[in-house]
Amino acid sequence: MKHILSVSQFTKEDIEAIFAQARHFKKQVESGIILDPLAGKISTNLFYEPSTRTSSSFAAAMYRLGGSVISINDVQYSSVAKGETLEDTIRTLEQYCDAIILRHSEVGAARKAAAASAVPIINAGDGIGEHPTQALLDLFTIYEEQGKIDGLTISLVGDLKYGRTVHSLAEILNHFTVTLQLVSPSELCLPDEEKHKITNPITTHSSLDNVLENSDIMYVTRIQKERFADLTEYENLKDSYTLTLKELSKMKQSARIMHPLPRVGEIAFEVDDDPRAAYFRQMKNGLYVRMALLSYALG
Ligand code: NCD
Repeated sequence: MKHILSVSQFTKEDIEAIFAQARHFKKQVESGIILDPLAGKISTNLFYEPSTRTSSSFAAAMYRLGGSVISINDVQYSSVAKGETLEDTIRTLEQYCDAIILRHSEVGAARKAAAASAVPIINAGDGIGEHPTQALLDLFTIYEEQGKIDGLTISLVGDLKYGRTVHSLAEILNHFTVTLQLVSPSELCLPDEEKHKITNPITTHSSLDNVLENSDIMYVTRIQKERFADLTEYENLKDSYTLTLKELSKMKQSARIMHPLPRVGEIAFEVDDDPRAAYFRQMKNGLYVRMALLSYALG
């Protein structure tokens, strides 16, 4: 059974195969070809935390492959509200579907679900832990935008402490040779246990100014409000970085700006029309990469 739980499970060959499949699906969808390799298959979106892109792109990916989707996008209207355990919810849903896409607030929830499940579990974010499918679509986007990954200088900006997308992306980049520039307020720096997983050279910064000129990829993230025990700390940190046209004027023409989204002020709307703004293309890539991942898990 092919669960997707962590970026650590993928070899470089796996990643290349997933990307080749994603490119193939992209071409087919763009040419209007109707696909049905997953006809008759059903996936369940089981989301214990809010989501727009991950849940809808996984649903769209399933439909684009000819499959169908059960959507539990707000567990407060499910038996979870009555106190059902994660394991029992998984054992229920596995009776009705062929794969479960799970987002949960606890680190390790996807692994716990996988241990109880007779169908593949896809980790769509486990608390501050990991977001492996986002890391794959981020990596795919870096490659599509820059034509390569090796040799790039990649800045990871914002909430490096609680941002699961950063944790997964930084780790999957171990398959390539890049320079990582970590930009965060000292309160939100990358935790040591995450840093220890990284094999690429790292520099750390508190100011965006230090990294504007040399970045090939500026990967901006939201300060993760929902993870703060003390909301006044969040209020003090929430406006730490804002990318506007003024910052863009110092960046290379070949640089690309990425963001897993949602944004809450880190990238000014005026940046959207600059060709270097790649975040809308990035979310479109999410559809193709998730089509490839569903085929991998269910094909
Ligand atoms: C991210 C997440 O849920 O971790 N969103 C996403 O999946 N695109 C990032 C975030 O919420 O800040």
